[in-house]
Amino acid sequence: MTAAVEVENLTVRFGSVTALEDVSFTLKEGGFLAVLGPNGAGKSTLLKTLTGLIEPTQGSVRIAGNDARRRDSLAVSYVPQLKTIDRQFPALALELVVSGLLRRWPWRISKDDEVRATAAMKSAGVADVARTPIEHLSGGQLQRVYLARGMVRNPRLLILDEPASGIDTTGEGEFYHLLEHYQHDHPNATIVMITHDWSVARHHASDVLLLNRRVVGFGNPDAILKDELLRDAYGHRGHKHTMQVGS
Ligand SMILES: Nc1ncnc2c1ncn2[C@@H]1O[C@H](COP(=O)(O)OP(=O)(O)OP(=O)(O)O)[C@@H](O)[C@H]1O
Ligand SMILES: [Mg+2]
Repeated sequence: MTAAVEVENLTVRFGSVTALEDVSFTLKEGGFLAVLGPNGAGKSTLLKTLTGLIEPTQGSVRIAGNDARRRDSLAVSYVPQLKTIDRQFPALALELVVSGLLRRWPWRISKDDEVRATAAMKSAGVADVARTPIEHLSGGQLQRVYLARGMVRNPRLLILDEPASGIDTTGEGEFYHLLEHYQHDHPNATIVMITHDWSVARHHASDVLLLNRRVVGFGNPDAILKDELLRDAYGHRGHKHTMQVGS
């Protein structure tokens, strides 16, 4: 079986900054990978490389057997880290979701696209805010609208950069259930997600990548979410988090 994601000896440099160094791992179809690591560890850079937005300086990234820059773009969705998005942009939630379908801004929305977008918003639990301007959405609602945008084309690979930040604890549980439903309804769909929450990784992921520029650990959650490896990844700041390991 072809792997969903194959990363081999990947190095990414921005000028004198090495964001990723000699990173290798393979994720099978239907997997759910949680990527963890401290700020600046190269997590977002890795995800952008998977989408083909950033080119490897060295090494290779293959998505379902194809070079990431030549992958079937309809089969991959990317939900970026939201801090980087302008909330003042004058758009309705529905338009944002339809833009995921058309891959351009929807100046006019066909009935068919509206039906598909509304269905995705319903599964993300935000159908009621379809006509709300995005600047009036709560942080949690906006995250779900972006998830709907990511799911609307039924991608085989869903790439999510810290999708649950800003969602309250109850909403967060529901958010991960949405992802589980998505994988249940699309059995070969693969998810790659950055999170800072180790218990989420433990409970929802099939694989964990612990990253700090290099791979600190890759494998199943029980093998990777261990004190020594977390300390290696987070350095001295990991110490206070070790209390949460196993929770
Ligand atoms: N486009 C860019 N140009 C220059 N440097 C960059 C660029 N993107 C990322 N970097 C640098 O690469 C390193 C990794 O950044 P990245 O955003 O991948 O980290 P991260 O693990 O996602 O961090 P965070 O948890 O804060 O989101 C950082 O030192 C960052 O400053
Ligand atoms: Mg990031």
